[in-house]
Amino acid sequence: MKDSASQPPVVIQRADYRPPAWLVPDIALDFLLDLSATQVTATLDVERNPAGDGGPLRLNGDGLVAQSVAVDGEPHSAWRMEGDDLVVDLPGEAHQVTIETTIDPTANTQLSGLYASGGLLCTQCEAEGFRRITFFPDRPDVLSRYTVTLTADKAAFPVLLSNGNPMDSGEEEDGTHWAIWHDPWPKPSYLFALVAGDLVATRGTFTTMSGREVELAIWVRAGDETRTGHAMRALIASMAWDEKVYGREYDLDLFNIVAVSDFNAGAMENKGLNIFNTRYILADPETATDGDYDGVEGVVAHEYFHNWSGNRVTCRDWFQLSLKEGFTVLRDQQFSADMGSAPVKRIEDVRVLRSAQFPEDSGPLAHPIRPNSYQEISNFYTATVYNKGAEVIRMMTVLAGSERFRAGTDLYFERHDGEAATCEDFVKAIEDGAGLDLAQFRRWYEQAGTPQVDVAMTHDAASGSVTLAFKQTVPPTPGQPVKQPMVIPLRTALFDRASGAHGGEHLIVLNEAAQTFTFDGFAQAPVLSLNRGFSAPVAINAPQSVDDLVFLAAHDDDAFARYEAMQQLVVQHLVAAVEDRLDDAARAAGRAAIAGALGAILADPALDDLMRGELVMLPGEAYLAEQLNPVDPARVHAEREALKAWLGTELGDAWRALHDRCSAVPYGLDAAARGARKLKTQALVYLAAADPAQTALRAKAQYDAADNMTDRQGALMVLCGLDGPQREAALADFHARFADNRLVIDKWFSLQAGSLHPKALDHVRALAQHPDFTLTNPNRVRALYMAFAANPQAFHAADGAGYALIADLILALDPINGNVAARFVAPLGRWRRIEPQRAALMRAALERIAAAPRLSRDVREQVSKSLE
Ligand code: PHE
Ligand code: ZN
Repeated sequence: MKDSASQPPVVIQRADYRPPAWLVPDIALDFLLDLSATQVTATLDVERNPAGDGGPLRLNGDGLVAQSVAVDGEPHSAWRMEGDDLVVDLPGEAHQVTIETTIDPTANTQLSGLYASGGLLCTQCEAEGFRRITFFPDRPDVLSRYTVTLTADKAAFPVLLSNGNPMDSGEEEDGTHWAIWHDPWPKPSYLFALVAGDLVATRGTFTTMSGREVELAIWVRAGDETRTGHAMRALIASMAWDEKVYGREYDLDLFNIVAVSDFNAGAMENKGLNIFNTRYILADPETATDGDYDGVEGVVAHEYFHNWSGNRVTCRDWFQLSLKEGFTVLRDQQFSADMGSAPVKRIEDVRVLRSAQFPEDSGPLAHPIRPNSYQEISNFYTATVYNKGAEVIRMMTVLAGSERFRAGTDLYFERHDGEAATCEDFVKAIEDGAGLDLAQFRRWYEQAGTPQVDVAMTHDAASGSVTLAFKQTVPPTPGQPVKQPMVIPLRTALFDRASGAHGGEHLIVLNEAAQTFTFDGFAQAPVLSLNRGFSAPVAINAPQSVDDLVFLAAHDDDAFARYEAMQQLVVQHLVAAVEDRLDDAARAAGRAAIAGALGAILADPALDDLMRGELVMLPGEAYLAEQLNPVDPARVHAEREALKAWLGTELGDAWRALHDRCSAVPYGLDAAARGARKLKTQALVYLAAADPAQTALRAKAQYDAADNMTDRQGALMVLCGLDGPQREAALADFHARFADNRLVIDKWFSLQAGSLHPKALDHVRALAQHPDFTLTNPNRVRALYMAFAANPQAFHAADGAGYALIADLILALDPINGNVAARFVAPLGRWRRIEPQRAALMRAALERIAAAPRLSRDVREQVSKSLE
């Protein structure tokens, strides 16, 4: 436990940054590895930092006890503990400090620092896990060269890995063996890693652009090596892509990836030794969906790209987290766009932003992409820092164009290679390298909240001119009541109604609270296509006629804009329905327009199925809820389901024909086959809403015929929402079939917790008692409870039972893993935007958590901010 209720929270401020008093150019780490008692000897070569304040050497610890401290080889007693930190007064300029600690990896259920995972030992040091291993200035602006000696029982831990290159190894007669690793690249402690255990490698090679051979290895448990092919292909493709697109070459002779089952996050970019959650490495057609394949490709690329954007250039302090994460997310998005369908990838990325980041930006945990303060840094690995951070840099690419942007990133890497840099350093390098003025643009780093852009179009038939009048506001967020206008680049096209074409795209750049732009040469009022490609991460309010939206959904040559028009058509209708603004005639007209547009999309021969699969997707309930304040989640759910059922009936023949056509496409990883699989399950989703009994048979047939996980999971997902023997049979078969595959059993939990079944909440309660459920595995916890918290009907049960369930989970999980527990607070924190009765119940659940006698710093921060 890091904290207790009696102590006031310590708030770390960005403005308080001071350079470290001492640097550690070299460190030697000696591990005597053992599952329950690992001995660590750390030898630090310390040097006074000329830029420091002349203070003592401060070595952070977290729950550590120093067994011995020596300075320059002599036992030393002139040190003291300040809280968890070990502080040594040192005269002079340079010393060698040696400290011994002993840690218990098995007791480490927080999975931060050195921990045991199914007999394996591994580390997770970002952000502040290294201080749970040894005393050290655990801050990213202290960069050291690491030499690591690992000693362990050879039978239990045949493989010993750390960062960099293997230098030497050997065996002793007592059954132990040892390995020495050296990483020539200075790095902050959060990039340190070790792994020891019984693992097998899939190997590959990559020849870099300057002709160096790099050995690649992906380490997994025996039996899993048949599922590493996709990850290896993704790694090799990432290495080639980063050379071609960003000019970045890999810089060691070896690149290792290890997959572990117990992991708090997705993966970690430790230098030369990435450690992954198994779910982002293991994939084969039988056990992984197309979405899982994309996840593997994207995360492998993301961690690899960190080698430059994160490792070679790292962060000065944790407030700069978006420096590495925002940029690296942009890079992995660009990579995945190049590997597959760029428009579909863009739509998926925007969907994630809108369903995860927009709600964060409009809630109590809103923060700028470069936060100003935190209590627990683990709470700031957010959709805002990651995904909005990527959008902000993407806007730079829109403003500069890709060539000039590349000149900017070249300058950034050249200027800051080997340094711990700031977001300001990045912006300055892009400014200088790309030749942009980003003075006002910097507000994207300072102001939280999603900018709202209102636009009105007027047309003057006499002069043929069109005027667009814009207003922008950035809503108030915690600590930021008043906002300044942002720079908002909007790719825009004006379509001629008659020809269906436009005369070229305009880049409109807003930078004032209110602005107008005029365009000439329009005999008729054009159809407005705005924020094409989602060029700015803003909410647009452009009251467009149903006719215009139908026109754009059918004709826009920007794929994202086409998707957007279809979404907007449905959003406008559902929001009006939820707000009780539709009489019978208006409801019928709205539905007919949507059915017409959807029918046209189903029939459009020019569309590929992957894109068609995007266009037929109804907007999610989280995004719909963002349009309403306060929102009644039950009404949103009911209206959306009713529309889905109506569309299922109205277009029933088309959905059945589509399902038949797609079911005939054989399995393959090509876009056509993937598109068919995506549409197949979407057809089932509409049909299930319209005709549950018949669709249960159709879904069960899809399940039984499935030769891949995409079809099987899709069918089971639909069946989970229905009642009847097909549901029970498929669930039982799925569990029996995959009983020994943890990642697939995670799906079994998720599908039931996220289902449309009216008893989903009861199902979750029962599943929490299932022998396969455990609170100690983050994947399993997320599989059950994140799926549940994202299931609006179940989570927002009118009596508050869903809120109580999540509060109970947080209280039970917090002592085990506060980091993961804190992730479940945000769904409850949305209470301010929910209708009053549910809001009171959500608040009560938060207050019950807040009243607990001991809470982790992680949960305490999120709960107290959510109640403010
Ligand atoms: N830095 C990791 C990434 O984004 C995420 C991570 C953060 C992993 C903290 C573990 C702990 O690639
Ligand atoms: Zn990252």
